[in-house]
Parts: sequence; C-alpha cells; structure tokens
Amino acid sequence: KKATIITAPFSGGQPKGGVELGPEYILKAGFEKQLEHLGWQTEVANPLEKTNYEAQKSNDKDSFGVKNTKIVSECCQKIHEAVRSALSSDRLPVTIGGDHSIGTATVSAALEHNPDACVLWIDAHADINTPKTTESGNLHGCPISFVMGIDSDSYPPEFAWVPQNLKANRIAYIGLRDVDDGEKAILKKYNIPAFSMYHVDKYGIGKVVEMALDAVNPERKNPIHLSYDVDAIDPSFVPATGTRVEGGLSLREGLFIAEEIAHTGLLGSIDIVETNPLLAETEEHILDTVSAACAIGRCALGQTLL
Ligand code: ARG
Ligand code: MN
Ligand code: MN
Ligand code: MN
Repeated sequence: KKATIITAPFSGGQPKGGVELGPEYILKAGFEKQLEHLGWQTEVANPLEKTNYEAQKSNDKDSFGVKNTKIVSECCQKIHEAVRSALSSDRLPVTIGGDHSIGTATVSAALEHNPDACVLWIDAHADINTPKTTESGNLHGCPISFVMGIDSDSYPPEFAWVPQNLKANRIAYIGLRDVDDGEKAILKKYNIPAFSMYHVDKYGIGKVVEMALDAVNPERKNPIHLSYDVDAIDPSFVPATGTRVEGGLSLREGLFIAEEIAHTGLLGSIDIVETNPLLAETEEHILDTVSAACAIGRCALGQTLL
C-alpha cells in the first residue's frame, strides 16, 4: 500500500486568502504519520513548489467571465501531472488543497489513468458552473463542467489542455445544499445523480452512499475518485472553510462516506479541499476543521472504529 500526498497550496479559484495554507496545517497535524500508522508507505509531492501563483491573484473577471484563468490553469496542469505520475507508479494520490478548482486536474487525471473510473463529489456545492453560468466568476465553482466539456465554446483558451473525459453517468454528488440555478439546469439536463441533504435526511446516509455507488459503479468493479470538499460537513463541525452552508452532514455522516468508500476497496484517488485556517474565529475552529480533514483522509484510507 503506497500513497503520495500531493500538496496543492493554492487559493486562486476563489477570492479569500488562507485556503493555500490548508496543506501545511494538515501536514503539521501529523497526517502523513497517521496514514503510515494505517499501513501506508507515504511520500509527499509538492508540484507547486517554486511557483508564486498567490502573488498573481486578482479579483477581476476576464472577457470569459472568470477570474485568475491563467494561474488556475497552470496550477491545475502541475497537479494533473503529479496525480498521473503517482497513479502510474501504482501509488494512491491524496491531493490536499487548496481550493476546489484543482478538481479539474485530479478528476481528469484519474480518468486518463483509467477511463472506467467514477467520481464521487462530496460537497455542499455542485461546482459545475461554466464560464457562461457562473455568477461569481470563481473557478472553484467550475471544475466539473471543464472535465465534462459542458458549454465548451465558453472556455478561456487556457483550459484547452483539459481532457474532457468525464461522462455524466460517471459522477454522483452527496451533500448538496447550495446549488446555483444554472447548475440545477445542468444537473437536470445531463441527468446527473445528485443526492442533496434532503436525500440524506430522507433515506439516511447509508442508503444514499449505496444509491450513489449503484448509479456510477453498479458492479463495484471500477476505481473511485473521491473529491471531498470539507464544506460538505456542517459548519458547526467544520467552520474554517470559505463557503460555509448551514444544514450540512454531521461529522459522523461525513466520515461514514469515506469509511464506506474504503470498504469497497475501490478507492483510486482522493482530494481533500477547502480547509481555510485563516477563516477560523478561534483556535478551536482551526483544530476542528484540520482534524476533520485528516479524519476524512484516514477513513478513506482504511481506518476503522473497531
Ligand atoms: N456555486 C458558487 C460559485 O460558483 C459557489 C461555489 C463554491 N465552491 C466550492 N468549491 N466551495 O461561485
Ligand atoms: Mn497509468
Ligand atoms: Mn463546497
Ligand atoms: Mn467544492
């Protein structure tokens, strides 16, 4: 069992500062040791070393209606290569963000490595805006549309390198509760399996995970890319994140999803994103959020309660 922790200290997909510190806090909390304790041989890769994207961040929309196109694209290319390289050396990529714009990189890399892979996107948000539908212009709200190739005539040329290799029946969502109107229309049009907090309340988290897997991986034989935005979990447990939405998963529901994916034995790659230590009001907020991020990773990589 070998894993590569890929750090993505990047905040250019959204305007708030601090999310670029996520990897540092998570590693300082002992994440690498925790995975080793679970029997994983680990290494850390820092593909953004020697870049200075944070200094180039701006809040202006380009002519395509999105912000920081160039740095998001370049950052994603580096992360994409790092994920591919880990996968081709039979290592499990654990990408630690950073904001969720890097989903463009990780999802497309997982699918390049194995075109049969499926994606579970655990998030309060659908992150499937296109440059046409986004109101904020923040690219962390767009990664899925890029990898699916939705509205591709609206993309800035910087994203021409992105493999459009994600099919609508290969991604399922869990935890949604803040989806823009344009995104709702896309989810409907492509008939993408999406389980909101309503479904979690109605069916229970166990059934929801089962339904999500039935939709994208009915025979339970294909690798799973788990893209985990910590804001899927309720802000009372995970306060230090940039786009908090009330009414989220309990911490246990959030960890159960990761445990259940581990049980399939099919986890192929994982992202843990949107930990922003600078948005904490207290030291305890930081601790809660960083520990939740670490726990998600441990559960997905096989930690059990008994
Ligand atoms: N839908 C909103 C937008 O497009 C919010 C996206 C939040 N995304 C996230 N990865 N936290 O701006
Ligand atoms: Mn390969
Ligand atoms: Mn989110
Ligand atoms: Mn997200």
